[in-house]
Amino acid sequence: DLTKRIHCILPAVFKKLLLISFDGFRWDYDRDIETPNLDKMARDGVKALYVTPPFLTITSPAHFSLLTGNYVENHGVIHNIWFNTTTQEKKQYHAAQFVDSYWDNGSLPIWITAQRQGLKTGSLHFPGTAATYKGETVNVRQVEPAIYNHGNETEWRLNIDKVIGEWFHQQDLDFVSLYFGEPDLVGHKFGPDSLELREMVQQVDRTVGYIRDKIHDHALTDRLNIIITADHGMAKILPDKQIQRIILSKIPGFSFKDIQFQLLDYGPGGMLLPKKGKLESVYQALKGGHPHLHVYKKEDVPARLHYSSHPRLLPIILMADPGYVISGFFPLQFNKGDHGFDNEAMDMKAFFRAVGPDFQKNLMVDPFDLVNVYPLMCHLLGIKPERNDGHLDKTKHMLVHNGNVLIGLATVIGLLALVFIVMVSYNKCKRSKA
Ligand SMILES: *[C@@H]1O[C@H](CO)[C@@H](O)[C@H](O)[C@H]1NC(C)=O
Ligand SMILES: *[C@@H]1O[C@H](CO)[C@@H](O)[C@H](O)[C@H]1NC(C)=O
Ligand SMILES: *[C@@H]1O[C@H](CO)[C@@H](O)[C@H](O)[C@H]1NC(C)=O
Ligand SMILES: [Zn+2]
Repeated sequence: DLTKRIHCILPAVFKKLLLISFDGFRWDYDRDIETPNLDKMARDGVKALYVTPPFLTITSPAHFSLLTGNYVENHGVIHNIWFNTTTQEKKQYHAAQFVDSYWDNGSLPIWITAQRQGLKTGSLHFPGTAATYKGETVNVRQVEPAIYNHGNETEWRLNIDKVIGEWFHQQDLDFVSLYFGEPDLVGHKFGPDSLELREMVQQVDRTVGYIRDKIHDHALTDRLNIIITADHGMAKILPDKQIQRIILSKIPGFSFKDIQFQLLDYGPGGMLLPKKGKLESVYQALKGGHPHLHVYKKEDVPARLHYSSHPRLLPIILMADPGYVISGFFPLQFNKGDHGFDNEAMDMKAFFRAVGPDFQKNLMVDPFDLVNVYPLMCHLLGIKPERNDGHLDKTKHMLVHNGNVLIGLATVIGLLALVFIVMVSYNKCKRSKA
């Protein structure tokens, strides 16, 4: 509540923050493609070699880790698909966005925390935007339509105009999360090495230039920090002629008769709920069933993946090696690229860039986990974070004032003085705003 008071009186102490995600932008996509705007942003700010997304490396789980600082087993959005093992019902990515109880499972996204501490927030198309958390939604929002052309650059610019021109400039919001559905879709359809992918990376690059120009046009350059990152990377799927596909129904000793509920045919991950008494036999049948299939009992999933302890996770968890996807009865997946693999695989790593008044210039930093972006964002906004799995220590060296002792001391003294002023003048300020 002290932060609320400080924000009320001195809105200029903390800068505004724009968090942008380009879905599936792999860490090395800028390597042999001309990206003048991303290069300029790196010179003007901070670039990480890469960031490690949480497992499962797919869209809704990873974005919710970005918004909460929690690993997937600690926030509960375990998959893009919402499901009920009793009724067999499944809701796909878009429909699942509207299931409040799915998202509101104990972790608050940063918008709600910021709003409770007196800030104004917005979100455009970002996963999690449609849901209500403990009765609250993000202040200003635009939820993505069910059918949407994710690659339309004109549409991207209209959305950027809205966020910068209306939300930050006119409505004076403090924090906005902004989502773009590419280059993920092109990476799936044509593969990470395709010409189409290269063109989409250049579209992203033009867009980054457009965003920074807009910010400049609205005189926000010195008052707004920008973080640009992604939820996961993209790996090439090996063509049929090179490999033996992973099709569970073809594995000797395994039968779907023993399965009560399955989540399969969604890329390289899978989950099974065996019928009563069948757990051990299903596990034994699948284990060793394919040289590129990893089979775990839920509690034996490696601890580093943080994908083991949530009640929504089913008793058997399947993981394919990079290049492979898992199918149930027949091959149903024909993507040239996919994600959802072990987050140790280099192709799953995402990019990270930041620029703004609080970031150092021309600084390249070592890789870190995506969950550490959350405490960084809370620090930048001057809000108290919720319990989370991130550590500010992993990211704060990117900042201009990163804990220098003298600055720290001066800040403490300044803050004590500020606390006094805040106590005295908060009521006056509150009255005048009311
Ligand atoms: C699944 O459906 C059953 C039966 O309608 C219901 O009792 C249960 O609460 C549902 N579970 C979830 C997670 O929605
Ligand atoms: C999260 O969801 C699980 C299962 O869907 C439920 O058992 C648990 O109580 C929920 N936790 C919170 C804090 O909402
Ligand atoms: C792209 O978006 C603009 C603005 O909404 C629209 O006018 C145009 O028809 C769209 N183009 C395509 C190919 O969908
Ligand atoms: Zn994604």
